[in-house]
Amino acid sequence: MPGLIDRHRGRLPFAPGDPVVSLGEGSTPLVQAPRLSARAGAEVWLKVEGANPTGSFKDRGMTCAVSAAVREGARAIICASTGNTAASAAAYAARAGLRGAVIVPEGKIAAGKLAQALVHGARVVALKGNFDEALRLVRELTDRQPIALVNSINEFRIEGQKTAAFELLDDLDGELEALCIPVGNAGNITAYWRGFRESGARPRMLGFQAAGAAPLVQGEPVEHPETVASAIRIGNPARWEDAMDAMTSSGGAVSAVSDEQILEAYRLLAVEEGIFCEPASAASVAGLLAHGAKGARRVVCVLTGHGLKDPDVALAQAGAIVPCAPELEAIERAVLE
Ligand code: F0G
Repeated sequence: MPGLIDRHRGRLPFAPGDPVVSLGEGSTPLVQAPRLSARAGAEVWLKVEGANPTGSFKDRGMTCAVSAAVREGARAIICASTGNTAASAAAYAARAGLRGAVIVPEGKIAAGKLAQALVHGARVVALKGNFDEALRLVRELTDRQPIALVNSINEFRIEGQKTAAFELLDDLDGELEALCIPVGNAGNITAYWRGFRESGARPRMLGFQAAGAAPLVQGEPVEHPETVASAIRIGNPARWEDAMDAMTSSGGAVSAVSDEQILEAYRLLAVEEGIFCEPASAASVAGLLAHGAKGARRVVCVLTGHGLKDPDVALAQAGAIVPCAPELEAIERAVLE
């Protein structure tokens, strides 16, 4: 299957013959969620972005950002990241034959994401600071050095990520009244809104932040963001104005969800719908359940990343393992009791 630049070239800033760095991203499943629909009192669909090549929606933006970097003759790319951008940048840098460096908050990114960035051969720098500080520093660094910045302040990232909105409208024949989406650095909600606007659609954009990292809800930056959803542990989103514009001009809203609500939604998705996403992704469903969909009949929740990204949270949330002696009676008891 061709990647998303080839599929959507007419609506992306790439000409025929431009270099394309792709891992076959996009075209992710849109899955109906019957039990969640019953709970929410709306027809709920899940956009499973964990099915992208590196397990998160970042690949949509990264194919564009890295292809553009290659077109511009870059030799290296860099990003600050809570983990998924790092994993994606590392993979696409490897694919392109570029050097990749990722700056992550020390000890604060999920194990799967760290493994990805390292395995793909990126230079992984652990900053003694948080994501917001990391982003500020890489912005300054790329002002001084000829390294392409691939965070979502890079326009190509937004361009690539807007294709998810095209897919939703295609799959639902244009009928979609609300989009529930987690908000961290606020690039993704900006991208969906751009994709919808370019298609003449106006679903309500309902953004959700973790309560301990909710600058948009509070109306001011959060100096020490904290949440179990490490992907969205961000206190000063770079796309602040764009995100607020998406929510206000669509008749949407930004709201907060607690870590308990996030983890409840995370378990519910896994146990009742068979879908394993990471904690940050479950914020979209937690938000729908806690705050409703403002009367929308058909709702899509964006599940931004795969559950395997964060095995530590998964194991802490899951049931116990049953030990067993190697005997039939013991197995019988262990399985059936
Ligand atoms: N969900 C997941 C799984 C993420 O990794 C992110 C962002 C978001 C939601 C929020 O998206 O930032 O566009 O509002 N992760 C970034 C990273 C910050 O570095 O991987 P956003």
